[in-house]
Amino acid sequence: MHTVAFLTQKGGAGKTTLASSLAAAAAGAGESVIALDFDPQGSLTRWGKRRLTANAANRVAVEQFELARLARLGAVLDRIADAGFTLAVFDTAGADSEAVRMIAERADLCLLPSRPTLLDVESAAATFRAIYLAKRKAAFVLNQCPPTYRGNRANDAAKDLTRLGVLVEPMLSARIDFQDAIAAGLGVTEHAPQGRAAQEIEMLWNWVRNQLRSPVNEGAKRDARSSASLTDRLAAVARASQLR
Ligand SMILES: Nc1ncnc2c1ncn2[C@@H]1O[C@H](COP(=O)(O)OP(=O)(O)O)[C@@H](O)[C@H]1O
Ligand SMILES: [Mg+2]
Repeated sequence: MHTVAFLTQKGGAGKTTLASSLAAAAAGAGESVIALDFDPQGSLTRWGKRRLTANAANRVAVEQFELARLARLGAVLDRIADAGFTLAVFDTAGADSEAVRMIAERADLCLLPSRPTLLDVESAAATFRAIYLAKRKAAFVLNQCPPTYRGNRANDAAKDLTRLGVLVEPMLSARIDFQDAIAAGLGVTEHAPQGRAAQEIEMLWNWVRNQLRSPVNEGAKRDARSSASLTDRLAAVARASQLR
């Protein structure tokens, strides 16, 4: 079983939105998916409840995970894997650093959503460093970018970081489909399968799946991580994704 965690300190970055749609897209691609909600606010759990009456095309098990049980997370994940699940998606509150460390330790891949602004990127970079210390794979996801044609400027700026595996391809745009889907208890690929948001999430799932399959290029990643310019490079990509 593979595990993917959405982490970042900032609220509103899109952890719950992307966790729900990624879980549904992965289920649509044939994975047997469980989504674990580590956020006491329980947004993902409520999405799971709405799903029960939403006629969703794919099955996703959704469960609240009490932070008091974090010490037993390893054993719980063993049981989940034994039950036949092939993918566990973790949604977190991202604020409590001890909890983040314990969750990151159990994640094959940590995804750090960030809005495309300097302040958000800086905040996500702090989480990235904490995860790096826990020696896990981690990648930024630029989310809520302006949904306009970006030309090649942003993509060119992103290419380097994407190749190193520290920035997810694609950048995700702010789209109403994401908000409508979560309100309906669906993923965007279920809510509006032909839409742009669905396309972006399919690409996100493909990127994630490839990362889960491929070994880490440690040399290249160390280069990207140790460089003090990582935040600067990300900020440059974020800036290039904006309108002039
Ligand atoms: N790509 C997106 N397009 C449109 N709205 C988004 C997108 N990502 C997040 N949102 C909206 O932004 C708000 C915060 O997202 P949420 O997933 O709750 O963030 P977090 O879980 O990190 O706090 C929500 O209202 C959500 O609907
Ligand atoms: Mg959330």
